[in-house]
Amino acid sequence: MKKTAKAYANIAFIKYWGKTNEELRLPSTSSVSMNLDKCFTLTTVEFAQKYYKDSFELIGGKVTEKEIEKVSGHLSRIRKIAKSTQFAKVVSQNSFPKDGGVASSASGFAALTVAAANALDLDLSEKELSILARLGSGSACRSIPDGFVEWCEGKTSEESFARSLYSPSYWDLRDILVIVSTQAKKIASTLGHHLGKQSIFYEKRVSQAKKLFLEAKKAFLKKDFPLLGEIMEKDCLAMHSVMMTGSPPLFYWLPKTVEIIQKIYQWREEGIPVYFTIDAGPNVHLICEGKDEKRFLEKVNKIKEIKNIIINKPARGAYLINEHLF
Ligand code: DP6
Repeated sequence: MKKTAKAYANIAFIKYWGKTNEELRLPSTSSVSMNLDKCFTLTTVEFAQKYYKDSFELIGGKVTEKEIEKVSGHLSRIRKIAKSTQFAKVVSQNSFPKDGGVASSASGFAALTVAAANALDLDLSEKELSILARLGSGSACRSIPDGFVEWCEGKTSEESFARSLYSPSYWDLRDILVIVSTQAKKIASTLGHHLGKQSIFYEKRVSQAKKLFLEAKKAFLKKDFPLLGEIMEKDCLAMHSVMMTGSPPLFYWLPKTVEIIQKIYQWREEGIPVYFTIDAGPNVHLICEGKDEKRFLEKVNKIKEIKNIIINKPARGAYLINEHLF
């Protein structure tokens, strides 16, 4: 059967960096995120007798042998549950350029999980889909549920899944993603999670993130934007400190990244409530409330030599669509 799914990328306010079990992708800390409406992946999966091996194609981009292996490995997890021996053809398309500064593994594995499970006629719950997506790429489990999402760390695979805290309409937040470089990262996140464990700050950041996770949930409950902003910056800087002091160190920032951070501090002094968070790369996610978007964008548009700006609103979780890619 052939099925197609759409899944959105997500930005974490409290981040996932470091695992207690690398194979099962069990995180050292719980995380909180928002799905991003302008950054999504469409994936069509067809299982059939006519295929003699799994294939994976990305419209408008190249895929490496390693990526094909990862996709096939994920299909095998789903085949096992469905007791199927059929191979599949997989075709994906991103709304953003691959290696263009937006991580595609979250939306990619979430869309693959939903499309493949349905193509094999599995009737899985949101929790089961989230657990499966997590096994493909940790952050992908947060792209399964709607809107604003929490991923509780869990001690076992069964306990480690994401669930929706609030629907996309709960809080009119914006993620203004400023792309300062479109270069692919030299070290993949999966290895980065492991290298960070050598950092002298690793355990400290884990214990701080556990506290900040609870604080972030309070900020959501009260819709307290300055509180959420302070927390997200604190955890982002702690995570990057771990990255920078791992072995070998991972230094993701560019001069432009620092320039934008400095500008954000300055804009806050001028009275614009805007905060930043940064994933495993140099691009900066500027988070503000919808009511401040316009006056804030005027400032952002004046920053010189940036590659692209993507303005994201909160999005729903992963779902099936009727239009197939082949
Ligand atoms: C910095 O989910 O890409 O974006 O589980 O090894 O595939 P793997 O890692 P991945 O890590 C994402 C890390 C992050 C922070 C976050 O999204 O929480």
